[in-house]
Order: sequence, then structure tokens, then C-alpha cells
Amino acid sequence: MKSDIEGHPIEVSGYEQVWVVRAERSGYHAIFAIHDTTLGPAVGGTRVRVYDAVDAAVDDALRLARGMTCKNALAGLPFGGGKAVILGPAPVEREPRRAFFRFHGRCIQELGGCFVTGEDVGTTPTDMESVAEATDYVGGRETGMGDPSPFTARGVLVALEAAAADRWGSPSLHGRIVAVQGVGAVGLHLCRGLHERGARVLIADVSPARIEAASRLGALEVVAPDRILDVEADVFAPCALGGVLDEKAVDRLCAQIVCGAANNQLAHPRIDAKLRDRGIRYVPDYVANAGGVISGSVDIAGWDRTRMEQALDGIGSTVSAVLAASDREDIGTQAAADRMAERRLGRSPSP
Ligand code: NAI
Repeated sequence: MKSDIEGHPIEVSGYEQVWVVRAERSGYHAIFAIHDTTLGPAVGGTRVRVYDAVDAAVDDALRLARGMTCKNALAGLPFGGGKAVILGPAPVEREPRRAFFRFHGRCIQELGGCFVTGEDVGTTPTDMESVAEATDYVGGRETGMGDPSPFTARGVLVALEAAAADRWGSPSLHGRIVAVQGVGAVGLHLCRGLHERGARVLIADVSPARIEAASRLGALEVVAPDRILDVEADVFAPCALGGVLDEKAVDRLCAQIVCGAANNQLAHPRIDAKLRDRGIRYVPDYVANAGGVISGSVDIAGWDRTRMEQALDGIGSTVSAVLAASDREDIGTQAAADRMAERRLGRSPSP
């Protein structure tokens, strides 16, 4: 990075570029991780979160950027993978926030087009408008496709129907019990779709306001957040935080399918095999939640809506292919998806 922007590159093996950028005066402190641009510019959201330490923010950016490479590759998008993580909080008031995100846009502009961003946890389409005041390399704006959450939820539904067909011989979710953890932006749309398909929906959220908003959909059963893993459900749909599936959580699960929007659902890679050993069909998070970035193809790659919708529906065949590869190669579904992504990137998959 050049000009008055203070950026420091960090060397990270397997990543094309990683930058730490600070602007003392505004308190702006961000990590840009460009993982891979083999298939196109690295596309990934801008996340704002409060981190305990800079290293934690770097780790988050690296993991999320790599996930974006795999997600974009398997979604058939002409994008590589990257992520921007801003150490929060960001200003709340309108004008300082606008200036903050305009500065973020300047940093993205300095990267020269190898990274294109959009909305993510802690940012909004309005923030992306501010980013767009300083760069062209941004999607998910108010004036474009806007909030990706409805598309993410639709992708999760398509993924779930494919997993249901694989497990129960029919994609129908009618009468199936689905436990949704987190009824925020994506979870709420997902509940609506499940409800329309005749599923019985159980929900849990730490926010009473979110529970109230979801309850307006009608006929949902509310479960305490610490009980959602234990309920007798056919499907567990994590739509809150990452890392929710650790050893203990997998032991508690009654569901036969795990399919949700949350990023980085597996607390660590060994959980993939554990889910398989327990006979639980895990739909890899980056396959199930690709709908949001697929909607970005309209703003970023100039796709028309029909092509975008076809890619959304294509999530179903990707899920079927991943599940079949997991059986054929006798590996976990996450490992099967990673191998498929590596093949799409033209690399020989790691053993
Ligand atoms: P959100 O912030 O709108 O919703 C998350 C919900 O989870 C909130 O209602 C929150 O109160 C709840 N929650 C937090 N901790 C919880 C807990 N321990 N138990 C139960 N509920 C809890 O976020 P959004 O946009 O709905 O995203 C959900 C997940 O999906 C995130 O992990 C995000 O990274 C991922 N994702 C979202 C996409 C999108 O289009 N919004 C795209 C791809 C992934």
C-alpha cells in the first residue's frame, strides 16, 4: 500500500497478500487477507468485530479468506477468495461512520482491484455505499443487490433439500423438524422458507427481540439457546456463530443433517470425521451459505438475475456431489468439499 495509508504486509504461507492497515486518528485498524486469485479477483465481505487481540483478527481474516476461495470456487463464480476484517467497534454516528467506511474504500482502491468487498457481519449496505465513494471494488450496496441474507437463506434451503433427498430419498421438508440456532438476518428468512415448506421449526436466539420478530411468522417453537443442540430434530441449522460444532456438541446432536448459514461451523477439522462416524450428514458451511456471494455476482461480475438464480439453484447439485464424493472416497463431507474446490482451482487435492 502507498500514499498516506499506513499499511504493513505480513508474509503468510499459502496467501497471496495479507495487509494490516491502521489510521491512528480515526481508530481504523483492519486486516486484508487475499488468499487466492486463480479464478478471479478475491471476493469477500468486510467484517467488523471486536477482537481480544490483533492476532485473533488476523486468524479470523485468514480462515475466512481461505473459506471464500473454496466457497466461490464451488459456487462456480469467477472469483477468488479474500476477506477484510476491521477491529471494531466502528463509529455509530452517521457522518463519522461514513468517513470511516470511505477510508476503508480508499484502502480497497489501493489494492488495485485484486480484492472486491461486500457486506458481512457488522456492516450494512449503507456502509457499502460509503465504501463505494472511494472505490469501484464493492458490491452489496443499497443501490445494487443490497442485503445478501435472503439469498443466503434461499441457498441454505436448496442445500437442505438436496441433503434431505440424499438422506431420506425425497427433498421434501414437509413434517421434518428443523432446529434453527440464531434467527437474525439469515435465520429469519430461513424460518419463513421452512415454514412455507411445511417443516416444523424450532428456534433459539440469545436476543429476545429476534425471537419476537421470528415468532411473528407464527407456529414456531422457542427453545432456550443452551438446549437447541439437544432437541429431537431431523435437521440442525446453525445460523448464529462459528465454531458451534465441537466434540461435545456433536455428541449431543440428535439431528441427522446439519445444514446452516454460519461460517466456520466446525470448531476444528477433526469434527468432520466425527460427524461422519456418528452418521450425521454435514453440509459444509461454505457450500450451504454461498447464496449471499452468489447474489454479489450481479453487482460484481455483471451477471443477470437469471444466471444468478441458476447459480443459487446449483447449490443443490453441489451438495449432492459433495455428499456422493464423501461416500465414494470414505472421507468427511468437509474434506470432500475441500478436495472438490482444490480441483476447481486446478490443483491436485491434498491426501
Ligand atoms: P445476524 O447477526 O443477523 O444473526 C445472528 C443471530 O444469532 C442473532 O440474532 C444473534 O442474536 C444470534 N445468536 C448469537 N449467539 C447466539 C447463540 N449462542 N445462540 C443462539 N443465537 C445466537 O447474522 P446473519 O447475517 O444472520 O448471519 C448468520 C451467520 O451466517 C453468521 O455466522 C454469518 O457469518 C453467516 N453468513 C451470513 C451471510 C449473510 O448473507 N448474512 C452469508 C454467509 C454466511
